[in-house]
Amino acid sequence: MRPTRLQSLAILTGLTTLPSAFAWGAAGHEIVATIAQIYTQPDVLDKICSILNAYDDQIHEDEFSMTTTHKCHLASIATWADKLKYRMRWSAPLHYVNAVGDHPSDTCVFPGPEGWSGKPNINVLGGIYNTSNILLEYAQGEDERVMDVGLAQEALKFIVHFIGDMHMPLHLVGRDKGGNGVEVCWEGRRRKFHSVWDNYIVAKAIRDTGNNYSRPLPGGYEPVERHLRGAIYDPYIRRIIWEGVEGRWAEDLDGWLDCPKVDEDARKEAVKKGVFATLGNLFLPGWLTNWGTAETTVTDTDAICPYHWAKPIHALNCELLWPKEMDEPFNGASAHRRPRCKRWSEEEQREVVDIDEEPPYELDNPDYMTPIQERMLLEQFLAQGGVRLAGVLNYIFADRI
Ligand SMILES: *[C@@H]1O[C@H](CO)[C@@H](O)[C@H](O)[C@H]1NC(C)=O
Ligand SMILES: *[C@@H]1O[C@H](CO)[C@@H](O)[C@H](O)[C@H]1NC(C)=O
Repeated sequence: MRPTRLQSLAILTGLTTLPSAFAWGAAGHEIVATIAQIYTQPDVLDKICSILNAYDDQIHEDEFSMTTTHKCHLASIATWADKLKYRMRWSAPLHYVNAVGDHPSDTCVFPGPEGWSGKPNINVLGGIYNTSNILLEYAQGEDERVMDVGLAQEALKFIVHFIGDMHMPLHLVGRDKGGNGVEVCWEGRRRKFHSVWDNYIVAKAIRDTGNNYSRPLPGGYEPVERHLRGAIYDPYIRRIIWEGVEGRWAEDLDGWLDCPKVDEDARKEAVKKGVFATLGNLFLPGWLTNWGTAETTVTDTDAICPYHWAKPIHALNCELLWPKEMDEPFNGASAHRRPRCKRWSEEEQREVVDIDEEPPYELDNPDYMTPIQERMLLEQFLAQGGVRLAGVLNYIFADRI
């Protein structure tokens, strides 16, 4: 087996662990994709492989950052869309959804009376709706090969990524570019709040995974091992499966895939209006054409319902993801309760206060982390992403009678 690109890099630079800034950004997406791979039916995986293997000789390693060994693995395509978004700017708004007026921790709307920001349905929910439709069309027309497999391949790479993004709570937040504009402290360093949830909190969870997960799980978990790829996060995936998917959430899995019954006529009407509003954007200011004020949305069907799945995840932003303390002035009444940015000494803190710059809120403190860890919230987001991605792919590609 050839070493992967990352492994080669590690060997060349003499590192035993991967360079963190490079490796972690991908970890969340790859974990979701690997859990999905574990729960995808074998016959469905075969079909997915044939899509991913199309144009084999044209696949350029740099672009896909994967080797032949991993070609048929959902994790190997999970971050493709992130690399693409800088080259194809149109795809950037498809990685998140923002409601106008959404401002945790005090106000959470999903959406509120002013709807979503940006162009109607050009967001992660619309992205999941569109790409799942492309794949459905491809799967149903398989015999006639009516659709270009290249289009299906692209849709597949997008949907694996979008379902991951949809389960990252800050990708659902309207405030401060989903937390990209909020500075916090994390383990003593200044970070963007968004990237703490994208990267560093995942890295910490991987590091903190108990030694008992560095071996295969006891009894009956062969499919798990079959789909692990020798990655740094493998033990963490075993833990998510053992304690979560097959543990505390075992009874909830069906519910995770549930979608409320949709009134098809109402939905089609809404889609029409959505398209009209898109055209309207050509000559009307954005705030007039924002569509989606209703609770109902055009992106959900009876089987695949990103809006319904995202809504409770979004609500957690006000409940506990955005701590109120983060917004309180450092010198305010609560200052004594405020955890310090760890790296700074008392003296440094005083100096900074003197020059009127507030040290950002240290997120890695027990008040913030304990409820998240006890509820296994990060693990739940990753597991829900994986289980739903598997459910979507099984629904699209499984043989129907
Ligand atoms: C979905 O497809 C429609 C029709 O092709 C297109 O106008 C729209 O921009 C697409 N939306 C997204 C989110 O990709
Ligand atoms: C690993 O250790 C944790 C904590 O002691 C325990 O809860 C868990 O069940 C163990 N997992 C396995 C697979 O033995």
